[in-house]
Amino acid sequence: MTTSTTETVSTDVLVIGAGGAGLRTSIELAKHDIDCLVLGKRAHGDAHTIWAAGGINASLSSLDPEDQWEIHAADTLDEGHFVNDPTAVEMLCRRAPDRIRELDEWGMDFDRTDDGKINQRYFGAQSFRRTCFVGDKTGQALMDTLVRKAKALGVPYRENLYITDLVEEGGRIVGAVGFDMDGGQPVAFDASAVVIAAGGHTSLYRRSSSRPDENTGDAQALAFNAGVPLRDMEFVQFHPTGKVTPEAEAGHLVTEAVRGEGGRLYNTEGERFMRRYSPDQMELDARDVVARANEQEIREGRGTENDAVLLDISHRDDSYIRERLPRMVEEFAEHGVDITEEPMEVAPTAHYAMGGIEVNFETGQTQIDGLYAVGECTAGVHGANRLGGNSLIETVVFGEVAGAHIAETLGTRPDAPLSEAVVQSHVASQEVLAAADGRHTPGDLMDRLRRLMWNHAGILRDEDGLIDGLRQLQHLQAGAEDLSVQAGRTSRRYERAQNLRFMLTTAETILRGALERTESRGAHARTDYDAKDPSWRQNIRCVPVGERDMKIDVEGAGTPSRRVQRAVDEDHELDYHHLE
Ligand code: FUM
Repeated sequence: MTTSTTETVSTDVLVIGAGGAGLRTSIELAKHDIDCLVLGKRAHGDAHTIWAAGGINASLSSLDPEDQWEIHAADTLDEGHFVNDPTAVEMLCRRAPDRIRELDEWGMDFDRTDDGKINQRYFGAQSFRRTCFVGDKTGQALMDTLVRKAKALGVPYRENLYITDLVEEGGRIVGAVGFDMDGGQPVAFDASAVVIAAGGHTSLYRRSSSRPDENTGDAQALAFNAGVPLRDMEFVQFHPTGKVTPEAEAGHLVTEAVRGEGGRLYNTEGERFMRRYSPDQMELDARDVVARANEQEIREGRGTENDAVLLDISHRDDSYIRERLPRMVEEFAEHGVDITEEPMEVAPTAHYAMGGIEVNFETGQTQIDGLYAVGECTAGVHGANRLGGNSLIETVVFGEVAGAHIAETLGTRPDAPLSEAVVQSHVASQEVLAAADGRHTPGDLMDRLRRLMWNHAGILRDEDGLIDGLRQLQHLQAGAEDLSVQAGRTSRRYERAQNLRFMLTTAETILRGALERTESRGAHARTDYDAKDPSWRQNIRCVPVGERDMKIDVEGAGTPSRRVQRAVDEDHELDYHHLE
C-alpha cells in the first residue's frame, strides 16, 4: 500500500460545508477578523442551497400587517407539532426580519411590491404571506449574495475537498482529515474550532429532491462518530410535489411556490381531492398532510400511469406564471410540458431532514468542545415537520449566531495541535478503503439502501417494516465491510464508498428513532399507531456508545415562552380562500 504525503493546513475556524449556513457563519467570522477557511465538495457557489426554490420566511408584514414574529413562531411550532426546541424557534422568528434586511442591503434581488416593499407570497401552513422570494430561484439568489459578500470580505474557500473524519484530542475537536477530490492527496486541517454546515441526509431515499451524491448524511455521521448525539432522526420531510419524469429528474422539486401562487392538485378523475383531506387549507395545508394525500390518491389508483397526481396552475395568466415561476416554466418546457397550459405530474419526494446534530442554538455549540453545527444538519428548529421557507432563513440566522459566538470566545481556547499519529491512522483507513477488493460495489449497496429506506422508513411506516428494515440494514453494513473499491481518491467510486459509510450510520439512527416513536406526529406517520399521543411530546436522542453502538434516550420537549404561547392560543390560520 502506498502512503501519500499528507498536506496540513492550519486555520482558526474550519467550516465544513459551503451552502447558506457555512457561508453565513464564515461571513460573521470575517466581520470579526477571525481567520477561517470554508470547505466545499464542489466549486464555490455550487452548493445544495441553490436548489431551494420558493422562498425565505420573515414576518416583514409587507402585505399582511397583522403578521408578527410571534405568529411566525406559533406557525413553526404548530407545524413542528410542539417537539421543536422553543428557544431555537423564538430566535429564528425574532431575528429573521433583520437577516432579510441585511440580505437586501447586500444586494439580494428580492421581488418587490408596487410600493417598493419586499414582496411576500403564501406558503403552506403559514397564517400570513410571509415568504420573501426571488421568482422561484430564491436559493440561487441567496447563494449568489453570500458568495459575493464572502469574497468581498476575503473569506478563503477550498473546493473539491471531502472530509472523512473529525479529529479529537483531549476531549475536544482540534481539526479534521479528508482528501482532495481533484489531486487525491490526504489533507489534515488543524483548527481551534470546527463548524459542521454540511446539510441533510435525504439522499438516503430512493426518490429525493437532493442533488446526486449530496445530502448523504456526512454531517450527522461526522458528528455522531465524534461522540455527539443525534436527535429527532425519525422526522424526515416528504415534499408533496416532486417530479416523476424524466427518470433522471425523478424527485426533483416542483416548488411549493406553485401552490403558493394558486396551483391546484387533481387526481385522474378530475377531482380536486384536497377538498376531502383539508377543506379549509386545501393545497396549502402542512407539507405532511398534502404529501400523504398525494400518496393516498396514487396508492388507491387515482394517479397517472407514472404514479403521480396532477398539479395545475394554468388557470393563472400566462405572464404571471412566467414572472413568478420562471424556473418551473423552463424546466418543464425542456421536457415538452407547457405549465401555462397544462398540468405537471407530481408525487412525494424525500426533501428535508428535521433531525440531526444536537446543538445549543444560542451558541451553535455541540456537547463536544470545539465543535459547532449550523443549518439543516442540526435538529430542533423544525420539530416533527418544517414550514416551507424556514430552511433558508435558518441558515442565515444561526450562521450569524454561531459565527458571532465563536468570534467572541475563540481567544480563550487552549492551543491543541493535531497529533501526527492520529492523523496518520485516519489517512491509513482512507487508503485501506481505496484498496478494498471485496465483493460489493458501493453503488450497489447504496441503491439497496435507498430502496430499503424508501420502503421501510418512508412516508408511511410500521413496526414490522422498521424491524425488517433494521435487519436488512445489518446485511448492508456487513456488505460494506466487504467492499470492492480499488479506485483512486479522485474517482466517483471512492467518493461513493465514503458516502456509503456516512449513509449507513445515518440510516440506522433514522430507523431506530422511527421504531422508538410509537405514535404518528408530523412527518413521522406510523400506520400501526395512527394518532398523535400527547405523552410522546418528547425528543428521541440517538447517543453514540463506544466505537460502533448507539443507545436511545428520550427527553421531554421544551415549553414556548408566554409571548409565543399567546400567539399559539390565538390559533391563527391561513385563510386559503384568499387565493381563489
Ligand atoms: O418548495 C419549495 O420551494 C421548498 C422550499 C423549502 O423547502 O423551504
